Amino acid sequence: MSLSPGHAANDPDRIIREETARLAPELVAMRRDLHRHPELAFQETRTAGKVAEALARLGIPVQTGIGRTGVVGLIEGGRPGPTLAIRADMDALPILEKTGLAYASANEGVMHACGHDIHTVTLLGAAEILKGLAPRLAGRIKLIFQPAEEVLTGAPAMIADGVMDNPKVDLALGFHNWPLTPVGAVGFARGAVMASSDAFDVVFKGRSGHAAHPHKAIDAVVGAATFITQAQTVVSREISPLMPAVVSVGMIQGGTVRNILPDTVTIKGTVRTLAAEAREQAEATIRRLLEGLKAGMRLDYELTYTRLVPPMVNDDAVLDRVLASARAIVGADKVMELDGPSMGSEDFACFAELVPSAHIRIGSGAPGRRDMLHNSDFQPDEGAIPVGVQTLVRSALDMLR
Ligand code: NI
Repeated sequence: MSLSPGHAANDPDRIIREETARLAPELVAMRRDLHRHPELAFQETRTAGKVAEALARLGIPVQTGIGRTGVVGLIEGGRPGPTLAIRADMDALPILEKTGLAYASANEGVMHACGHDIHTVTLLGAAEILKGLAPRLAGRIKLIFQPAEEVLTGAPAMIADGVMDNPKVDLALGFHNWPLTPVGAVGFARGAVMASSDAFDVVFKGRSGHAAHPHKAIDAVVGAATFITQAQTVVSREISPLMPAVVSVGMIQGGTVRNILPDTVTIKGTVRTLAAEAREQAEATIRRLLEGLKAGMRLDYELTYTRLVPPMVNDDAVLDRVLASARAIVGADKVMELDGPSMGSEDFACFAELVPSAHIRIGSGAPGRRDMLHNSDFQPDEGAIPVGVQTLVRSALDMLR
């Protein structure tokens, strides 16, 4: 983009709107290309290549291989100031696409069913406009194209590779398309908006034996069943009823036939909370229950407890600035508060844990459809792209004024 001096003197909102309208067709075309070629977590090499190429074409310095397949671009403003990170995720899901769209996935069994293809091009569009407006910025913008959000390990991988340093990030902005909010609108919630996510795997180790002589064996099946039942008390008896939490076991595996008690039973579960205190309490209780089971039922066990991401907490001050920008560019009536937090998780929380941050939703609900994320027929409205671009650009301009 090249802006004539006369043009650059114009009202920035006019520039944002005109440039977004000009870029929209190519952003939609690129989104459809990404949609056709979805890539799973940490395999986003084609996507990362396209992103790096687009940034380089804009004259934006690019770093690749940050967090394995992540890409980082940097836009230097005309004056000194803070560094604002804006993050988009790039990965797809192991789902067989059933949309029947002309640009449906050509990578069978892999689908952009969460709309990260939309996120990627939204940030590229914002980057192009912000590059043109860079002389107006007091500070710089770090463009973070993140891999592996769906497995919640892409953000930690990029942080481990130093994405928050050199230059040090001061503020961060994240976004997700949201089919429950109509296209054209921007959604938000305050405080803890998404849950922490931790994983526990337990191998219950008994001693195999004949099912007819259980006293000669140590029954891992009854042990696992007892633990799963006891784990229901983590939320109901251990964590304050005023603090939302979920403990779910989604996998149980053990045994081969009716008349043999197996040596081991394995379970896999997840813990979601909206507060650090509840998160600590859940882990401590699970550990205590397992110790109790060991003493009480003679079972041994092996626990792998993995802390994935903290709760996603919006910083009020940063969120308020973003909302003011969104209201100014898309209309006050289009910025809507969501019903409340979600017990789903988002690894943008790892950035938000380090610097004041805001995470917003860009409405992608198409008229007449009732789409949900992670569905094989997910068809977000591409009108979310220009709304996202305008919101990101205006927010960045306002935050780096
Ligand atoms: Ni997603």
